[in-house]
Amino acid sequence: MLMKSEIIPIACDHGAYQMKEFLLNKLIEHGYTMKDMGTFNTDSVDYPDFIHPLAKAVNEGEYERGIIMCGSGNGAQITANKYPNVRAGLCWSVEQSQLTRRHNNANIISLPGRFVEFDMAWEILKTFLTTDFEGGRHQVRVEKISKLL
Ligand code: RB5
Repeated sequence: MLMKSEIIPIACDHGAYQMKEFLLNKLIEHGYTMKDMGTFNTDSVDYPDFIHPLAKAVNEGEYERGIIMCGSGNGAQITANKYPNVRAGLCWSVEQSQLTRRHNNANIISLPGRFVEFDMAWEILKTFLTTDFEGGRHQVRVEKISKLL
């Protein structure tokens, strides 16, 4: 659901800094209130240093949703999914983005800064922010995610 009163955190490493800046400007232009959690330039950094603070804040309920990025999107997603209340989906297409909301109730989107065009990333992100969870059988499945054997 589109809830423009909420604050949405965004974080990346150097591999996605330019994509982060592009998306941040788009989001602000479209009326979203953003919390920029870095990185703030193209200097090489370690992605967990920027992803952990965002994922921890979503995990603790400080933010409902978040946006993360790194070069591949994998390191950021893997880091965020260490938190029990986080469901971070790696999305490289609009269809992936729809599905991770509809079926996984993802509360964080991970984008691959080096593998999708910025305009496509914006389409993927808009889809993530405006697609609802279907619930039903998918609620049952989502609840099973944390039931480790
Ligand atoms: C940085 O070079 C790169 O490893 C990082 O952005 C990301 O792709 C890690 O998964």
